[in-house]
Amino acid sequence: MDWGMKNRLARIINPKDNKTVMLAVDHGYFLGPVSKLEEPAKTIAPLISYADALMLTRGVLRASVDAASSVPIVLRVSGGNSIVGKDLSNESITVAMEDAIRLNVSAVALSIYVGSEHEHQTLVNLSRLVDEGQKYGIPVLAVTAVGKELAKRDARYLSLACRIAAELGAHFVKTYYCEDFGKVVKSCPVPLVIAGGPKLETELDALNIAHAAINEGASGVDMGRNIWQSSNPVGMIKAIRAIVHESASVKEAQKLLK
Ligand code: 5RP
Repeated sequence: MDWGMKNRLARIINPKDNKTVMLAVDHGYFLGPVSKLEEPAKTIAPLISYADALMLTRGVLRASVDAASSVPIVLRVSGGNSIVGKDLSNESITVAMEDAIRLNVSAVALSIYVGSEHEHQTLVNLSRLVDEGQKYGIPVLAVTAVGKELAKRDARYLSLACRIAAELGAHFVKTYYCEDFGKVVKSCPVPLVIAGGPKLETELDALNIAHAAINEGASGVDMGRNIWQSSNPVGMIKAIRAIVHESASVKEAQKLLK
């Protein structure tokens, strides 16, 4: 791996413990003004100093994040669909690599939809993005999206999707926690981070997932709704940080919520 690529990845995944707490606020690219992210600047401001990286679109980055901020950016560069459209998997690359470079991003992120109608298109999107990333030293995060088929979140499907992403050259992969998550980690040769998914019933549920994922080999989280839809977003990101970077137990992390 070239120096620039390694350097950018090291800004996101802390080389001291090989872990990261990414804050995902890219949801608007297909969900619109989702609850608690109606005004992205207000959601991001209190949380940004606790995030190792921020995942978002170029529109929200330019409009809602101070350019003087030193937080590494993971730029969402796929889209072209919406929650009310016919098929969430019908995604294209929506940002030129030149614009990502202009924005000084540390990585670019794109969704793949393995097993969907547009599987081929999204996998070719990933391959092309990796080619572009290799040219300029920009790491690529592949997101194993499941669309509306939440039933796909099992180890068999996620191992398949994560492995394909890594085989096509993704430098790190974002997926979901599932039963037998260790199997997903073992068969994916690049770092894996987990999404939180829709807001869980309690904060404890989200902490349990983060803790289990780290114990089973995840390199961290790229979490959104379970942080900023919580009634205590700052407490929540602090608790997640403790689990990811300080090997805190769920009980210890829970204390940070108070
Ligand atoms: C959408 C995404 C989101 O960033 C991702 O799902 C993480 O957020 P959450 O923890 O809310 O699921 O990539 O495709």
